[in-house]
Amino acid sequence: MRKVSSKYSTLLEYERFKMIKIAIVGTGGMAHMHARNYQKLKGVKLVAGCDVNPENVKNFCKKFGIKGIYTDINEMLSKEEIDGVSNATPDQYHKETSIAVMKKGIHILCEKPLALNYKDAKKMVDVAKQKKVINMVNLSYRDSFAIHKAQELFQNGTIGKLKHFNASYLQSWLVSNQWGDWRTADTWLWRLSKDHGSNGVLGDVGVHIIDFLTFPAGNIKSLHCQLKTFDKAKNNKIKKYKLDANDSCIISAELQNGAVGTITATRFATGHINDVSVVLYGDKGAIKVDLANSYNTIQVCLGKDINPGNWKTIKCKKTPSNYQRFINSIKTGKNDQPNFQTAAVVQKAIDACFVSDKQNKTIKV
Ligand SMILES: NC(=O)c1ccc[n+]([C@@H]2O[C@H](COP(=O)([O-])OP(=O)(O)OC[C@H]3O[C@@H](n4cnc5c(N)ncnc54)[C@H](O)[C@@H]3O)[C@@H](O)[C@H]2O)c1
Repeated sequence: MRKVSSKYSTLLEYERFKMIKIAIVGTGGMAHMHARNYQKLKGVKLVAGCDVNPENVKNFCKKFGIKGIYTDINEMLSKEEIDGVSNATPDQYHKETSIAVMKKGIHILCEKPLALNYKDAKKMVDVAKQKKVINMVNLSYRDSFAIHKAQELFQNGTIGKLKHFNASYLQSWLVSNQWGDWRTADTWLWRLSKDHGSNGVLGDVGVHIIDFLTFPAGNIKSLHCQLKTFDKAKNNKIKKYKLDANDSCIISAELQNGAVGTITATRFATGHINDVSVVLYGDKGAIKVDLANSYNTIQVCLGKDINPGNWKTIKCKKTPSNYQRFINSIKTGKNDQPNFQTAAVVQKAIDACFVSDKQNKTIKV
């Protein structure tokens, strides 16, 4: 356990009133989002950055005025006084880096996907429990107010028994240059390559859309999945990257509550930069969340609107971001959602998708 500063008489007081010191590991694209969000929060200070690429970490720390600059996570963890770490390394490093952090008794907000498979995710859950650290996963579409309102209405029984759903995550970065050129930028190329720890679109944004569905509607009981990897380059290779990770996925699933529906994700959705949506159809109404339309409103079809098929827009109340939840959890000692356990359950569904695709059969999750 870290030492309690003499200014505070109890650990509780220390956790409540002192400045929360945060380090960011992996200082590429997503780390910028973490840094910007922490800088908006009162009582939070970014104290260190760490990246195996010295140029990346130097530029990142300069940009955000961060003093501690490291290329070795263990050196950073032993030299700096840190309360929490944001882990924004590529997917394949989440396990080893997060475990190193937790073993020091430091709280962690890890990027999605929590790990590359359920076994690794479970190991991370176990270490978090053993070390009693706050553990959260940045399933970032939980930052929308809309999904919390949808969850509340669904759990209140507003649309009755769920019968059918459609959840979809559409990206187009393999056909557009909106986020840069995937043919040249490492940040996109590692996402296309199994050897570089990518589980393709399923592992990358499939985790988001599975969470976006199951957070309001409940967990998956069984699924059937088809994955497709398209030819994208000569010999399907660019630089050191073999382009063998899946680009599109189609899942038909049954939830534990008996509802059936589809979950789809692709990087080839021309015309859609980053569109996340879910529609829940119950026997007393329906709820539609479409983040391309709005993060702060949802649409419902209820009561007398059911016969003509009319939809009404509902404004949703403000909810905290994952960054706020992480900091609040550190302050209060109460672990908010989405935590490692929640993300591990999503990972279990992802594992089942790979088995289903390989064996072309329905798999129990
Ligand atoms: N929540 C979201 O919506 C969202 C969005 C984008 C990315 N992500 C996730 O964030 C993570 C990072 O993605 P990105 O787009 O920033 O990738 P990136 O390639 O742009 O950046 C990753 C950085 O990590 C560094 N790195 C690699 N191995 C490391 C290690 N062992 N220790 C320290 N640093 C290391 C790299 O040098 C690089 O600077 C991924 O897991 C990705 O899935 C999440």
